Amino acid sequence: MLFVYDKSDAKLKHLYTNPRRAYKSLLLRLQTMGIGNWHDIPGWCDYDNIYQQRVDEAQDGQVFLEIGCAYGKSTACMAEAIKRSGKNLTFYAVDFWSMPIFPFQWFVNHLTQLRLLDYVIPLKMRSAQAATFFGDNSLDFVYIDGSHEYNDVLEDLNLWYPKVKPGGWFCGHDYVFDEFPGVTSAVDHFFAPDDKPSVTINGRSWCTQKPQ
Ligand SMILES: C[S@@+](CC[C@H](N)C(=O)[O-])C[C@H]1O[C@@H](n2cnc3c(N)ncnc32)[C@H](O)[C@@H]1O
Repeated sequence: MLFVYDKSDAKLKHLYTNPRRAYKSLLLRLQTMGIGNWHDIPGWCDYDNIYQQRVDEAQDGQVFLEIGCAYGKSTACMAEAIKRSGKNLTFYAVDFWSMPIFPFQWFVNHLTQLRLLDYVIPLKMRSAQAATFFGDNSLDFVYIDGSHEYNDVLEDLNLWYPKVKPGGWFCGHDYVFDEFPGVTSAVDHFFAPDDKPSVTINGRSWCTQKPQ
């Protein structure tokens, strides 16, 4: 298997000197083969219309943030939209990447391969820790696609809603009761009080604009 490579390829020199590293490198190479745009990255992003609309309506200087990136599909989708727009937008991508099925290296490889790493600031940490770095009313758009458990979703809503500017947008994924009752229950619970805005459903996403 290792001998399919030409020994003259300097980048692959370690194939012959460090087989363990070689296998890792081979897996990473295979993982990133054929990635031409964000659609090709494995993942769950079916909210490109929401991301595109936020970019289309954004003014220079706005700050966006997503929670839950996995292999980078939604992150690359937003980064591509920002790149295409030519606007000066800051985009933070939060994920702890601590589950073995979601290796940080794959996220980095995908974004690197698409030349999009300059359009995103990855924050490799828990959502609750990331929230401590942002002031209230500081973000123009927050999209939540992290943990789908009731208590965790409610925690994310409580942590991130105050960070959204008045007039800013707050949305999240998987508002689908049959599949993710924790998400729908937490969203319904959080937005029930009269001082909270109502939520609209767009595909599998919930969305709301924070009142001015
Ligand atoms: C459904 S995946 C995100 C999918 C991604 N948006 C896409 O387009 O494919 C959920 C991600 O949330 C992350 N996650 C879960 N709980 C988290 C937490 N408390 N803090 C940070 N990240 C978390 C997981 O590591 C996982 O990568």
